[in-house]
Amino acid sequence: MHLCDFNISNLRCISQTSVELDKGINLIIGENGSGKTSFLEGIYLLATGKSFSAVKRRDLIRDGTCRMGVAGVFVSSFGLESKIKLEKSYSETNYTLQGQSVRKTSDVAAKIPILVGNSRAADLLTDSPKARRDLLDRTAFHVKPSFLSIWQELRRALAQRNNVLKSGYSSNQLCYWDKLVSEKSNEMDAYRKEIVDKVNYFLTKSTLKEELGDVSFDYYSGWDTNFPLLQHLTSNRESESRIGYTLYGAHRADLRIRVAGKSGAKRLSKGQLKSVAFESIIALHEYISENGPAKPIFLVDDLSAELDNVKQRRLIGKILRLSGQKVLSSIQPDIMEFLDNEGHKVFHVKQGKIT
Ligand SMILES: Nc1ncnc2c1ncn2[C@@H]1O[C@H](COP(=O)(O)OP(=O)(O)OP(=O)(O)O)[C@@H](O)[C@H]1O
Ligand SMILES: [Mg+2]
Repeated sequence: MHLCDFNISNLRCISQTSVELDKGINLIIGENGSGKTSFLEGIYLLATGKSFSAVKRRDLIRDGTCRMGVAGVFVSSFGLESKIKLEKSYSETNYTLQGQSVRKTSDVAAKIPILVGNSRAADLLTDSPKARRDLLDRTAFHVKPSFLSIWQELRRALAQRNNVLKSGYSSNQLCYWDKLVSEKSNEMDAYRKEIVDKVNYFLTKSTLKEELGDVSFDYYSGWDTNFPLLQHLTSNRESESRIGYTLYGAHRADLRIRVAGKSGAKRLSKGQLKSVAFESIIALHEYISENGPAKPIFLVDDLSAELDNVKQRRLIGKILRLSGQKVLSSIQPDIMEFLDNEGHKVFHVKQGKIT
């Protein structure tokens, strides 16, 4: 999958731009504040309907205007085109795929695999489990088409179960939801475990081992797997009804990084966290590329911060060798040294203008 024609209007500092991206490597070069992150943000917004930097709606819209828009054509490896358009005003969002309104952003996100490596990547390892679960689940969406519906069914079942718990539960009503939460959690759990095993395998092949020792993720299912989930759900109803939500299930899963036999990200320096986070995202990229129907688009913003020269060069080299479309931003024109004769385009950004 790659993004071909791409148009932006009134997104942050970018007033109007129209580019044709390369299906291989794209470098976006410009000084601080020129609009590099805004450009990558535009691609991510188009592919997911969401901001990767959690920028609020009003800050996405260029000052002095009342509406931003991104539009583009994603092309699959079989040449099938998906025309997507997203417009946001201060109060409305209009998101369309092939001219039809998109009801759920996850429907588009499941079609277009996209990964981001930016200055927030390291937070993935230290933030709450939700960010890691979401990344794992998005990976599953891209590889197993049925994962999305399992995930949606679990969310619906949990919402219903929580409602019953809050309204003074009856065992009869809960039995049905307990079974459904247990069934869907177990299906998600099997998918997720498979991904984590593969990611750990790719991590053993990375150069992290030389730098830090063995690096891998420990996966927690969201319940003590020595006992069936159904048993946890039926035996904890009383405590769950007091707090009004379900304590056990796939929605409580987590991934924790283990480095040289020690669990937890807090022990790592900022640069080490960034290396581990980027290698983990690269491992997800390799997993999706090998197992999914489409190769991911990889957006890399601000790779250099906190990494020494050797690590920067090693990671950039590795990212550029990945299959699929890559869009990398840099303040340093010397990133062009990495380019060989393979397909690439270089864009220069200055005060929101892209040439
Ligand atoms: N809503 C907005 N309207 C106009 N300009 C904005 C808006 N939001 C942000 N900007 C400005 O857009 C400019 C570009 O920001 P962006 O984050 O894209 O730069 P960058 O090239 O990634 O810089 P850096 O190298 O420092 O990361 C900044 O000067 C920022 O203040
Ligand atoms: Mg930036």
